[in-house]
Amino acid sequence: MRPVGTMRVFWGLVSVLALPVLRAQVPHWGPCSEPEVQTGFSLQQFMGRWFEIAKLPAQFEKGRCIETNFTFRTDTSIRVVSSEILKGEVRKIEGTGIVVDPKNPAKLGISYSYVLPYSPYWILSTDYVNFALVYSCTDVLRLFHVDFAWILGRTRSLPDSTIERALNVFAYNNIDVTRMTPSRQQDCDKTL
Ligand SMILES: *[C@@H]1O[C@H](CO)[C@@H](O)[C@H](O)[C@H]1NC(C)=O
Repeated sequence: MRPVGTMRVFWGLVSVLALPVLRAQVPHWGPCSEPEVQTGFSLQQFMGRWFEIAKLPAQFEKGRCIETNFTFRTDTSIRVVSSEILKGEVRKIEGTGIVVDPKNPAKLGISYSYVLPYSPYWILSTDYVNFALVYSCTDVLRLFHVDFAWILGRTRSLPDSTIERALNVFAYNNIDVTRMTPSRQQDCDKTL
């Protein structure tokens, strides 16, 4: 009887700690992998407006026309404004981005609230003018990890060939993108 009770407490604890991230997630066993990130990353060139072309995982009842605008607040702090159209309304949230380790400038951290820690926001690859591939992974108790991935574009759509290459980059880094889904970027000039 005892081990069962212990396990129940343990999983209860895990779910309380991990609930916000896990709701839309299938966790993967083991710690996060260490993907290669963009070498010689230029934060300056990355700034500006990016549209969400595809994301992992697919989320239920998510808004459409999701975009994020990165601007410098100071030399080291980034203003991150994301917007979407949901249920006929434009919604915006503002967050803060930082370079976590100056030796690794492609590894950003982004937080959308003072009470939340910075989540990893790693630029795996970008040409700055067309596409950017972003990955975020968080270890949960070193037992499993939850991850997010995005294909971003400077325009609301990208050529199939670019998306195919993007998926290959993720796969090469052992990131499972089989459930990655295209984001809706249609009718973004109207809210209904
Ligand atoms: C991005 O943010 C900057 C600074 O707040 C603003 O001047 C600019 O108009 C924004 N661009 C878009 C497309 O929202």
